[in-house]
Amino acid sequence: MDISIIRKYFESENKKNLTSREVFNERNKFFLQIKDNFIITGDGTLSLKFEDTMHSYVGALKERLEAYTKPSKISERKKLLDICSGFGYNALYALYYNPNLEIDMIEKFWEISAISLFLPLPDNYSFLEDYFNKIKGAVEYKLHELGLIKNLYYNNDSNIRLHVGEADEILSKMGNKFDVIFFDPYKAEVSPELFTIEFVKKMLDRLDEKGIFLTYLSNYAIRSALSCYSNIGKVNLPLNKVEGTIATLIQEESSIGQYEERIIALTELGIPYRNASTPKEILDKRNEERKFMRNRYLLPSSKRNIVDFESAFNGEDTNLRNRLEEFGLTKEYSEYILCPQKEQCICGKCTKRFKTSSERIIEMRKRLFELKGFNHEVCPYIL
Ligand SMILES: C[S@@+](CC[C@H](N)C(=O)[O-])C[C@H]1O[C@@H](n2cnc3c(N)ncnc32)[C@H](O)[C@@H]1O
Repeated sequence: MDISIIRKYFESENKKNLTSREVFNERNKFFLQIKDNFIITGDGTLSLKFEDTMHSYVGALKERLEAYTKPSKISERKKLLDICSGFGYNALYALYYNPNLEIDMIEKFWEISAISLFLPLPDNYSFLEDYFNKIKGAVEYKLHELGLIKNLYYNNDSNIRLHVGEADEILSKMGNKFDVIFFDPYKAEVSPELFTIEFVKKMLDRLDEKGIFLTYLSNYAIRSALSCYSNIGKVNLPLNKVEGTIATLIQEESSIGQYEERIIALTELGIPYRNASTPKEILDKRNEERKFMRNRYLLPSSKRNIVDFESAFNGEDTNLRNRLEEFGLTKEYSEYILCPQKEQCICGKCTKRFKTSSERIIEMRKRLFELKGFNHEVCPYIL
């Protein structure tokens, strides 16, 4: 949808002095004109295609519950930072389960936030209505403050705040910490600026010592960046049978899988995105870095079982063994690299055990770089 129609609507609404009832009626009338732009997702909630698909077709709100509300143990939290807040669905469910929660939402496009002011909930979610009105109140208040909306319909709740603009800029100005952070961007190809290791650090800098960071993402680059500054784990998302990611500053109980740890630590897929002047440059830069590191200092990602050192050196896979040997790996060295994943030391060189996925990733990569004579930082992995 072209969001300039939202801007035009408010330009026109702002020319009128409306009573509360009139505001309600005008906005309803406008929503009926634009409603065909919305997608009805599996649970009846509305979504939109803007730059990319905003929510899962399984159900925009259903997905929020599984990916964010439940794993965050939201009822125990005090302050939520909702990055990429869109229509405010994430914040909405959080507020329902914890009405005392303080919420800061960050959204780049005010028009996207403003859409929430028109959005109805389906009947099956009528229990969320009062809470959605509070989110809408915060949106309306902020847009009023910015001079973008004149007529007010909702009440403002000072516990809920919207910040409009680039997440990077907003985070740079924030000094406070949060005990829960939700990160809900589009995929890296659409918003690469939100995937850089520098931006990841900026988000984690806002996390309280005992706080929890959650994202529906599980891609290697984001997990790699997170593993440099926090302990990462997986979140099972039952609806579409994929994984999300959890990150904490204290020890995380649910590790990611051994295979994922190896791919992040030892292959070019674990190379993070880095800041650059434009989104395209961020994507290009990572591609160039992958090309440079591939086969030279890191294993290539072209073969899925490339990190199955056991099959190569103790099993039947002679092709893989040849390939790994060409790269410079021997049976002995492969055991040294994988040792951080073993319960007990098998290489005779460890001085401790590595309890978290993040620790294992960093140590395995360090050992590979040692072998390849790559004398650079392991984390944050600066060339
Ligand atoms: C997948 S949607 C999030 C949906 C949202 N959590 C909800 O509950 O409706 C991604 C959102 O990120 C916003 N966004 C994209 N790039 C951004 C940036 N650089 N800074 C802040 N927000 C951004 C988009 O406008 C979009 O609303």
